[in-house]
Amino acid sequence: MNEYDSERILYYLEEKGYKKTITPEDSNIIIINTCAVREKAKNKLFGHLGKLKNLKESRNDLIICVGGCTAQSMGEEIQKKCPFVDIVFGTHNISELPSLIDKILNDENSICSVIKDGFDYELDKVSRVNKYSALVPIIIGCNNFCTYCIVPYVRGREKSLDCGNIINNIEKLVSDGIIEITLLGQNVNSYGKDLSTGIDFPMLLERVSDIKGLKRIRFMTSHPKDYSNGLIQVIRDRDNIANHIHLPLQSGSNRVLKSMNRKYSREDYMDIVENVKSNIKNYSITTDIIVGFPGEEKKDFDDTMDIVRKVRHDRAFTFIYSPRDGTSAAKMADPISLNEKKEWFNELVKVQNDISFEKNKEHIGKVVKVLVEGLSPKDSSVLEGRMENNMIVNFKGEKKFIGKIMDIKIQKAMSFYLTGKIISSHDNDKKNR
Ligand code: 5AD
Ligand code: SF4
Repeated sequence: MNEYDSERILYYLEEKGYKKTITPEDSNIIIINTCAVREKAKNKLFGHLGKLKNLKESRNDLIICVGGCTAQSMGEEIQKKCPFVDIVFGTHNISELPSLIDKILNDENSICSVIKDGFDYELDKVSRVNKYSALVPIIIGCNNFCTYCIVPYVRGREKSLDCGNIINNIEKLVSDGIIEITLLGQNVNSYGKDLSTGIDFPMLLERVSDIKGLKRIRFMTSHPKDYSNGLIQVIRDRDNIANHIHLPLQSGSNRVLKSMNRKYSREDYMDIVENVKSNIKNYSITTDIIVGFPGEEKKDFDDTMDIVRKVRHDRAFTFIYSPRDGTSAAKMADPISLNEKKEWFNELVKVQNDISFEKNKEHIGKVVKVLVEGLSPKDSSVLEGRMENNMIVNFKGEKKFIGKIMDIKIQKAMSFYLTGKIISSHDNDKKNR
């Protein structure tokens, strides 16, 4: 969502006649679009601002702005700590940015404009960075209040976008050459619950899947508590919906899951995984896991490791718990030392890396569909693309294949990418894999 917001920020600046630059030294305006999910993101912000302070001192005409979730949650505190920041703006009022810039150009002093609630998403007001793949938000905010998570406080309650607008927007994107879209939401499975249209997420997926010329549909994130058989069926039945599910586990311990307010048990999670495995051919599952939640003990961590070994996710995004101000977990007793948490974390990363590598090796000899995105940044003599599960694949081929979906036979597996050779230009048939 943060990446998508960056594309919105870019749109509003381009409307005002600005162009994207490469270095801070080349720029008239510098905007830091922040995350707030973990403390590290906040620390990074102040690190960046520290470096920009000198530049601002040498160039008074430079405008420095801070937006995004840390700006939304800390607002005036950022201004106080770093008075050289010209504009602090929140996640609900990105469309206000042009007028805030005008105020600064008219000699107004540092501004902080953060509103508590609001909804200014206009799907056509986005400057797309990728020519073939686009992010499309379908629901903003979250009602779940997992006890560790700051998102409901900064993004507000769930608000679904109108289905007609979503479809029109994607049709327009496809006519502009986009072939892959990723539907975005903190919890896409909640889509439509706040509207009275009767259209839920599986129905929306079907309508999007019907759009002619759209070759690949991905979505994230799905909360396990809202997983339905209907969703699994749509994924199974539709060729242009990626067979990839990002299903955040967070913990494998029922005690910790309860304390996290996740509203599912380890058994529920395993049931969904079994359902996916038995219904979806060539499925892939990725996940998020938090280690060291307050009150988590070694036996809880062992439960997480047990699920990790049983499910064998293709990939896991792993995090050490980071207390966030205002969340209820931040007030819970947390007796385990950071050192011990780090030991658990390292064990998890090692086991998961081995599993990911093994899963990658399972692709060797198979033919997979790859959306070719461009030349590899590491080796410009090879093309780079992504499989349905977002895994990177490198292979030799002509530049004319960029922007197409190709059948690639996987030959070699590394920990974080695969290499292969071209079998044929795309057809949209799942049976070949
Ligand atoms: N500490 C550590 N990880 C967190 N996440 C969310 N909040 C926290 C936190 N306070 C992780 C979750 C979520 C992912 C986006 O970030 O695993 O799924
Ligand atoms: Fe945060 Fe939980 Fe909402 Fe995800 S579902 S955004 S982890 S509160």
